[in-house]
Amino acid sequence: MTGCNVQNPEIGNVIDIQGLKKSYFLGNQEVPILHGIDLCIKQGEFVAIMGPSGSGKSTLMNMIGCLDRPTSGKVMLMGKDTNAITDNELAELRGFEIGFVFQNFNLIPRLSAYENVLLPTYSNTKKGMDTSGRARDLLKLVGLDDRISHKPAELSGGQRQRVAIARSLINDPSLILADEPTGNLDSKTSVEIMDIFSDLHQKGRTIVMITHDPEMEQYVDRVVRIMDGNIGNN
Ligand SMILES: Nc1ncnc2c1ncn2[C@@H]1O[C@H](COP(=O)(O)OP(=O)(O)OP(=O)(O)O)[C@@H](O)[C@H]1O
Ligand SMILES: [Mg+2]
Repeated sequence: MTGCNVQNPEIGNVIDIQGLKKSYFLGNQEVPILHGIDLCIKQGEFVAIMGPSGSGKSTLMNMIGCLDRPTSGKVMLMGKDTNAITDNELAELRGFEIGFVFQNFNLIPRLSAYENVLLPTYSNTKKGMDTSGRARDLLKLVGLDDRISHKPAELSGGQRQRVAIARSLINDPSLILADEPTGNLDSKTSVEIMDIFSDLHQKGRTIVMITHDPEMEQYVDRVVRIMDGNIGNN
C-alpha cells in the first residue's frame, strides 16, 4: 500500500494519488494504461519512478503535473484536489509550484537558451522576482553561462537538458517533475545532471524523476516501480 493514509502525517504530502486510472481512446476502443495507482510522496523526498518502456511512466507524470486528466481517481497536490479546483487555481499551481523537465526537452527552437529559460515567466511570474537575473543565475548554475545566446540546435544534448532543468526552476517551484533527465546522455554528463538534482534535493525541493537507469538509484530516497500500469509494493 503506497497511499498517503498510512504515512507519517507530520510531514506534508506533496503528492497524494488515490485509485488513479487512465485510459486512452483509439476511436471507440478504450486502451487502459494506468490501472488504479495509489502513490504518496512527502515534502522533500527524492523519488525515482522506474519501469519498462511503455509501462505508463510518462502518462503518470502527466497526471501528477495536471497536464492531462485522469479517467478516474484522485490526484491531490499540496493538499489540493486537482479535480475540485478552478482552472485558474490549477494554472497557478502548475505555474508556480511545479517545474517540469520533459523527456524530449520541449525547448523552443527559435529561442535562445536564455529565452527558453524565461519562457514560463511569460504566463506566470511571482511578484517581485527579477526574472532576467534569475534566468542568468540558473544558466550559470547548470554551467551554461557562456551559452546563453545559443539556440537549442547550437547546443549538445546534455546542454539542452541543462537548459530544460534551468527552465524548470525559473519560478522557484517546490516540486520538480523530471522525465528521463539523463536519458541519452553519456555517463559523465549524467553524473553532472544528477549532482544538480542532488543539490536541489538538499535545498528541500521535492523531486520525482523518471529513469530507466539503475545507476540513478544511488541518488534517490526511494524507488517506485511501475509495471504495466501498476505500482509494485515497495
Ligand atoms: N496519447 C496517447 N494515445 C494513445 N496511447 C498512448 C498515448 N500516450 C501514451 N500512450 C500509450 O500508453 C502507454 C504508456 O506510455 P508512456 O509514454 O506513459 O510510457 P513510458 O513508461 O513513459 O515509456 P518510455 O520509457 O518509453 O518513455 C504506451 O503503450 C503508449 O503507447
Ligand atoms: Mg516516457
